[in-house]
Amino acid sequence: MAIAQPASRPVNPRFSSGPCAKPPAFTLDKLSGAALGRSHRAAIGKAKLKAAIDETREILGIPADYRIGIVPASDTGAVEMAMWSMLGARKATMLAWESFGAGWVTDVVKQLKIDAEVKEAGYGEIVDFAEVDFDTDVVFTWNGTTSGVRVPNGDAIPADRAGLTICDATSAAFAMDLPWDKLDVVTFSWQKVLGGEAAHGMLILSPRAVERLESYTPAWPLPKLFRMTKGGKLNEGIFKGETINTPSMLAVEDYLVALDWARSVGGLKGLIARADANTAAVSAFVETHDWIDFLASDPATRSNTSVCVKFTDARIKDGAAFAKAVAKRLEAENAALDVGAYRDAPPGLRIWCGSTVETADVEALLPWIEWAFEAEIAAQTEAA
Ligand SMILES: Cc1ncc(COP(=O)(O)O)c(C=O)c1O
Repeated sequence: MAIAQPASRPVNPRFSSGPCAKPPAFTLDKLSGAALGRSHRAAIGKAKLKAAIDETREILGIPADYRIGIVPASDTGAVEMAMWSMLGARKATMLAWESFGAGWVTDVVKQLKIDAEVKEAGYGEIVDFAEVDFDTDVVFTWNGTTSGVRVPNGDAIPADRAGLTICDATSAAFAMDLPWDKLDVVTFSWQKVLGGEAAHGMLILSPRAVERLESYTPAWPLPKLFRMTKGGKLNEGIFKGETINTPSMLAVEDYLVALDWARSVGGLKGLIARADANTAAVSAFVETHDWIDFLASDPATRSNTSVCVKFTDARIKDGAAFAKAVAKRLEAENAALDVGAYRDAPPGLRIWCGSTVETADVEALLPWIEWAFEAEIAAQTEAA
C-alpha cells in the first residue's frame, strides 16, 4: 500500500558520489580570492598551489618525507601516472571488487601487458588481503565507490614489503584513516569527500615510490603528462606546486576553500566523524526495515562514503527496473539527486554519506526512500 509523503525534504538533496555535495557553507563568492587571469607560475599562483599541498599534508597527516603533487586528469590521471611510471619493475598483483578497480586491471593487463596476478571479488565482497603477495606491486582501491566496500585497515600489508602498494583512495581520502606507512602511492581527486571541483588529481608518493621512479625506466614511452623524472632524478618541482601543465586556479581556490572548511569541522577527525554519523543514520534505517540491505556483506568492510543498498523484498519482479524507478521518484520529488546504483553495479541505491553531507539531510532522506519504495511496490502491483 502506498504511504503518505514525508512532511519535509532534505535541505540539500545532493547525494551524488561524485562530484559530491559542496561543503555546507559554500557559496560562489568564497572563490573571489582566486588568482584568475594570472600565470600559475606568478608568485600568487605558486603560493596557492603550495598551500594546497601543505594543507593537504597537514589535514591528512601525511608524513613529511612523502611527496604530494597536483597532477592533470583528476584521480584517473594520478593513478595512470603511477601505474605507467612504476609498474613493470616486478610482478604486479591487481585487486578489484568493483568497476573502478576492474578498470585498473584492464590497464595493467591489456594495455601495459604486465605480468600480473588478478584477484577479484564480486560486488559486496572484498579480496582477502591475507592471500596477497606484497613482494609484488599491488594495485587496489581503498574504497570501492560503486560497491560501497572498503579496506577495513592496513593490518594485512606488511611493513617490510618488497613491492609497492598503489592505492586509489579517491572516495576514501578525508573520510577514512589511511595507514600512510603501508601505502606507497595514494591518489585522490578534489570532488569527492571535500566536494571540490573535478580537473586535478593528487598523487602522493612514499620515499620507496620515489626510489622506484629514480631507479627504473619502463620499457614503454611515457607522455609528457606522466613524466615525473628528469635525467633519472625526481622532478621535485611537481611536488612543490610547479604543475606539469596549466592547472585551473579557480579549482585550486575552491580546493583551498574546501580545506578551510575541513579545518573548521575539526580536520580529519571531524570529517571522519561526519561521514560515520551519516552512515550510522543509514544503518539504523536498514536495520529496522526488512526490505532493504547493504550491498557490502560484512559490516567491517562497509563504506562510510559511498553507501550502497539493495532492495530485498520478494515482491519485486524486475530488480533493475524497480531500483531505477525508486531513484527516479526520489529525484522527481527533489528528495535525493543521483542516487541510482552505478551502471555496472547490482541494482539498488548509492547514497553518498561523505563529510560534506549533513546528517540531518540523510535523516530527512530515509523516510523518502520508504515512501518511494512503497509507491513503487504499489505501482508494480497495479501494473500486474
Ligand atoms: C574509486 C574510483 N577511482 C577512480 C575514479 C575516477 O575518478 P576521476 O573521475 O576523478 O578521474 C572514481 C570516480 O568516481 C572512483 O570512484
